[in-house]
Amino acid sequence: MTEKAQSSSYVLDQAHPDERSRLEAMAHMWDPGTMRLVAGLGIGPGHRCLEAGAGTGSVARALAGVVGPAGQVLAVDRDTRFLDQLPAQVEVRRMDVMVDDLPRRSFDLVHARLLVAHLHPHPHALRRLAEAVAPGGWLLVEEVDWTCADLLVPAAPVHTAIIRALQKVMGGAARDAISDAAGGETAGFDATYGRRLLADVLSLGLTDESAQYQGVQTRGGTHSWLAWRLLVERFQRDIVAAGLLTEGEVEAWWAVSHDESRLVVSVPMFAAWARRPRLDAP
Ligand SMILES: C[S@@+](CC[C@H](N)C(=O)[O-])C[C@H]1O[C@@H](n2cnc3c(N)ncnc32)[C@H](O)[C@@H]1O
Repeated sequence: MTEKAQSSSYVLDQAHPDERSRLEAMAHMWDPGTMRLVAGLGIGPGHRCLEAGAGTGSVARALAGVVGPAGQVLAVDRDTRFLDQLPAQVEVRRMDVMVDDLPRRSFDLVHARLLVAHLHPHPHALRRLAEAVAPGGWLLVEEVDWTCADLLVPAAPVHTAIIRALQKVMGGAARDAISDAAGGETAGFDATYGRRLLADVLSLGLTDESAQYQGVQTRGGTHSWLAWRLLVERFQRDIVAAGLLTEGEVEAWWAVSHDESRLVVSVPMFAAWARRPRLDAP
């Protein structure tokens, strides 16, 4: 059966006034871990990198620092409005990775974070990214999984309720990430993709695959909370309109989200990586 890419509709439009702040909050949380993985793969001066779904360009900027003036970074996004003030060795291209062809077998590192869970079918998206990896180069993909998205200390049932509601309005199908390990979203954001990422990477025919996950636990008032607040702000009307929560319940959640004494457990960020063999068939 031939897998056909669905149109790459994306539920988190960059035009939203808070989207840059939301992406910056996530970059603050996840960039250090991403760059540790990049260092572990041996990426260094003179290397060529592709940053797919580059968002605000925080990783592209950090990669430019790693590859230095002799290296190159291509930052692509379907919407490049936030990709400004980047170092000279970063080239920005407006591209939809599901539709537009990336340079073939050209990069020592192809990295995508928080992208593939939005693209369907996921293996098709990964294959398109993998095609850009040069012989000997690495594909590194990072995706969250909303398991433990509802964990607060002390616990708050309204937080669990809002996470489930968010997942329903952001995903193509009403499904419960917290209890459903099967996966299989076909549209929208797939909040349980992280746990299945390695399985898809293993299907690519690359070598030296490996995977890990990481997360943080933080106090109230931090970037973790900011990312949730900006997401809820954006979807709260849809949540109430869909009858998933009442306005009163959403209000109760806002109170919880501003309670600085509560600890929040981040969602885990899964990472999987694999290398194209050096002596690859043409
Ligand atoms: C959730 S943001 C993540 C941004 C960045 N990778 C990060 O981790 O901070 C997803 C990004 O992917 C971009 N995107 C979504 N679908 C895309 C597609 N089909 N082709 C290229 N970029 C896409 C969005 O415009 C957005 O910038």
